[in-house]
Amino acid sequence: MANQALIDGLNQQLGREITTFLRYMTQAAAIAKFEHKSVRTMYLEEVTDEVGHAQYLMNQIIMLGGVPKPEIHYEPPPRDVREMLRCDASQEQTDVQNYVRLAALAEQDGLYALKLKMEEQAADEDEHGWEMRRAVG
Ligand SMILES: [Fe+2]
Ligand SMILES: [Fe+2]
Repeated sequence: MANQALIDGLNQQLGREITTFLRYMTQAAAIAKFEHKSVRTMYLEEVTDEVGHAQYLMNQIIMLGGVPKPEIHYEPPPRDVREMLRCDASQEQTDVQNYVRLAALAEQDGLYALKLKMEEQAADEDEHGWEMRRAVG
């Protein structure tokens, strides 16, 4: 079995991804004004990305001999669109840092495909954050 710190880290990030796609689904549904249509589209596209990230983490935890134990910390999101974007841009930065740390743990265990995938997911989250900051202006 892979090292427990790696499996725990993958589980922690799995919970964050599930929490994130639930929040983005809610926000996409809550954004009603026509002027924010592009933000709604962005959140819908990112739901797909975050589901993909969660799916990958879930498969890896099981392949490494771990047990998926995602903890979901869902709270109702802010109603104001700019506030949503600011909060989410900050959460995306935390996800980037988590994936960079997971890539290092995977490399220590000689899991190079996992390391590269963690870096790819870090890059996805970095792009999400940039898109949100651009939308806030
Ligand atoms: Fe993600
Ligand atoms: Fe993201």
